Amino acid sequence: MNDLVTVTDEGPIRTVRMNRPEKKNALTFDMYAAMATAISSAQTSAALRCLLLAGSPSDFCAGNDIGNFVQTANDDGALRKPVIDFLHALALSELPLVAAVQGNAVGIGTTMLLHCDHVVASREARFATPFVGLGILPEAGSTLIGPRLMGQSHAFSLLVMGRPMNAEDAKAAGIVSAVVTPADVEAEAMKAAREIAALPPQGLLAARRLMRGTREEIVARIDQESTMIRERLRSPEARAAFEAFLTRKKG
Ligand code: COA
Repeated sequence: MNDLVTVTDEGPIRTVRMNRPEKKNALTFDMYAAMATAISSAQTSAALRCLLLAGSPSDFCAGNDIGNFVQTANDDGALRKPVIDFLHALALSELPLVAAVQGNAVGIGTTMLLHCDHVVASREARFATPFVGLGILPEAGSTLIGPRLMGQSHAFSLLVMGRPMNAEDAKAAGIVSAVVTPADVEAEAMKAAREIAALPPQGLLAARRLMRGTREEIVARIDQESTMIRERLRSPEARAAFEAFLTRKKG
């Protein structure tokens, strides 16, 4: 693992923490690869029962690293492999996923939560998926899971119109399970993870599998979205939006 993603096993819980606070935990290819490995390798561990995704006190995750994203526009797909591996690992995880969200959850920072079973958010957390505004498309299977989870209207507002949600909105939409004070986020998420991990494992896995639906369908949608995103990344709309972010002047 690289130090931009830390992996800590405590009894039956594996915590996968994004640790690039100076860049708001924007995910580089290396970070995606580390997270994919952390999630996939947990599946075959006899000791682990639950995964906890976490970020920093200031930010959960600001989405794809935009500099990395731009590089993938003319790539044959090899560069994006760690991204796809991570998305597949999320969708294929048999172990329950808990998330502790503080600060900004942008792009994949929000859509990875749609794969989680229990999300604890700080009351100051902010959820945003500006995909279409950036000239691209929602990813991570969110075009399938989003409308199922929150209904077409909430999903369209968040995923297509790019309207942000605060923590209470995200709870009402079904993305977030509990809203707590910033100081309590990590402890509450760990408490939920321990509660889940203490359940009878076979029953837990069977119930979760039934509730999650067909994983192959989600993986197929992830791949379909990904192919379309690669095409969109070459579009003038996307190039202009990413260039504007990379060359913006801060006041
Ligand atoms: N990719 C690359 N760098 C990013 C990034 C991203 N997705 N998000 C933030 N950063 C970097 C900024 O460029 C800045 O770097 P610098 O200090 O070297 O200039 C640093 O992280 C801090 O970000 P800043 O924008 O100054 O913080 P903020 O508190 O004003 O705003 C966000 C936080 C998350 C709202 C804002 O950074 C943002 O909108 N990021 C882009 C989110 C996005 O569009 N993600 C992609 C979705 S597909």
